[in-house]
Amino acid sequence: MITKILSTSDEDLALAGKIIRNGGLVAFPTETVYGLGANALNPEATKNIYLAKGRPSDNPLIVHIAKKEQIVPLVENVTENAKKLMDAFFPGPLTIILKKSNLVNNVVSGGLDTVAVRMPVNKIAHRLLEFCDCPVAAPSANSSGLPSPTKAKYVIDDMNGKIDAIIDGGDCDFGVESTVITLATDVPTILRPGSVTKEMLESVIGRVEVARAVLEGMKNDEVAASPGMKYKHYAPKNAKIIMVKGSKEQYENFVNTKKGALALCFDDDNITIDKLTYGKENDDESQAHELFDALRLIDEMNFKKVYARIPSTTGVGMAVYNRLIRACAFQILDLTKPFTIGLTGGSGSGKGYVAKVFEDFGFNVIDADFYARQIFDKKPSIIPLLQTEFGNDIIEEGKLNRQLLADRAFKNAESTKRLNEITHPAIIELCKENAKFPCVFDAPQLFESGGDELCYKTIAVIADDDIRLKRIMERDNITKEQALRRFSVQKSNDEFEQICDYVIYNNNEDISSQIKNILEEML
Ligand code: TXA
Ligand code: MG
Repeated sequence: MITKILSTSDEDLALAGKIIRNGGLVAFPTETVYGLGANALNPEATKNIYLAKGRPSDNPLIVHIAKKEQIVPLVENVTENAKKLMDAFFPGPLTIILKKSNLVNNVVSGGLDTVAVRMPVNKIAHRLLEFCDCPVAAPSANSSGLPSPTKAKYVIDDMNGKIDAIIDGGDCDFGVESTVITLATDVPTILRPGSVTKEMLESVIGRVEVARAVLEGMKNDEVAASPGMKYKHYAPKNAKIIMVKGSKEQYENFVNTKKGALALCFDDDNITIDKLTYGKENDDESQAHELFDALRLIDEMNFKKVYARIPSTTGVGMAVYNRLIRACAFQILDLTKPFTIGLTGGSGSGKGYVAKVFEDFGFNVIDADFYARQIFDKKPSIIPLLQTEFGNDIIEEGKLNRQLLADRAFKNAESTKRLNEITHPAIIELCKENAKFPCVFDAPQLFESGGDELCYKTIAVIADDDIRLKRIMERDNITKEQALRRFSVQKSNDEFEQICDYVIYNNNEDISSQIKNILEEML
């Protein structure tokens, strides 16, 4: 098929209107992104949209109208909230979902009993819709899974040869797709954030919820309120993007060590590696305007890894975050956590050795046992708490009687637990004070102490039980019975594997290559 490239003249728009009315497909600019339009009342034409995009058939289309009255025959009932929102935001970048009427076929609704309707404010889109003289079903004019097109050239990249015509109307104003709100639920709920913000919607109709999947990944068994949310979306074809959570300085310091990668940052960030910007910090509209263009440009470059500066989630930022987190497949590198990696494992697994190898990779190691021995000196505020629990006489002539404390604290499981409850927070505090990014936190009791919460990712060091036994019997000069008793109060290998993000095997395996693989995936 030869795809006509049309101008925005009335003559060309009239032609485009005729093509759509007669069952063809035309891509056109809107204030949000380019849309791929077909006559919404013609099931054959709308089926062709799914084919051209490679879109799953259960992902419904938005119906575009030129005049507010056109919504009436499409829906069961124009509710009070719908009227208020239409008065406030039509025409504009808002899509409203209501129960559908029988006029709307199942191809458009993706089999749902609702329909999404929007009235664009863009003059070209508006004029085209007038010429069509029918409601127009139009998803974004990209191949399914790619960033929505904000310029005609991206539509041509994706759709040339697959559709009848493309109207070249320059750049889109907003750059992210419309806000989608459903009024078919008890509480109006944002299914996709856009330039009409939660705050703006609430000022017109009161409480509005945000679907959980907007800012977080979908759970495996979760049913999508909006089918579009369940698909991997906006991701570049070859590069892997990781969102980096942290201050401007934390981001800059981290990213500037990543030679060979690309920084997807804000205009004023001080970046010394290759970079691409997507708007200004504290200017969410500029970010929305530029994000998709940047994501498309990444495809034309040759980077394997891209580190994206995290946008805020307020105002239009919520829309930017929602798109970017999908482009990142929900991977967020959290630099605000004190420890980059929490390293744990049973006695004799060889954590200490693995931690040493991490030093070769440029990590700072914080050894929890080392700081545990210092807490009575460095965190004296815990001593009165210990006295209350284990007796005033553990302090003799102003000095801690460590043996007496140990005798009483390790008497039974309950007293050991009380000791840990007092000492763990102090040990963690001390370790935090000494942590320097990038940091490995080597802690046998990582999970028991709550230290895992302070780590970006956790790694278990695992060795077979017989090997661990041999190691600790030799190292600590203890009997097999004593060693086994030590094992019995620790998590098993299986439990460590279950609970941690990654595993390093340390029987005889090569540690460096395992670390390298983990770091490649994680950072
Ligand atoms: O700004 C926009 O909305 C652009 C321009 C072209 O108007 N259109 C657009 O359409 O972004 P599309 O198909 O790419 O995204 C529509 C989103 C999808 O996530 C879809 O699942 C959701 O809206 N949607 C459509 N109808 C729905 C319905 N009845 N219930 C729930 N979600 C619906
Ligand atoms: Mg889309």
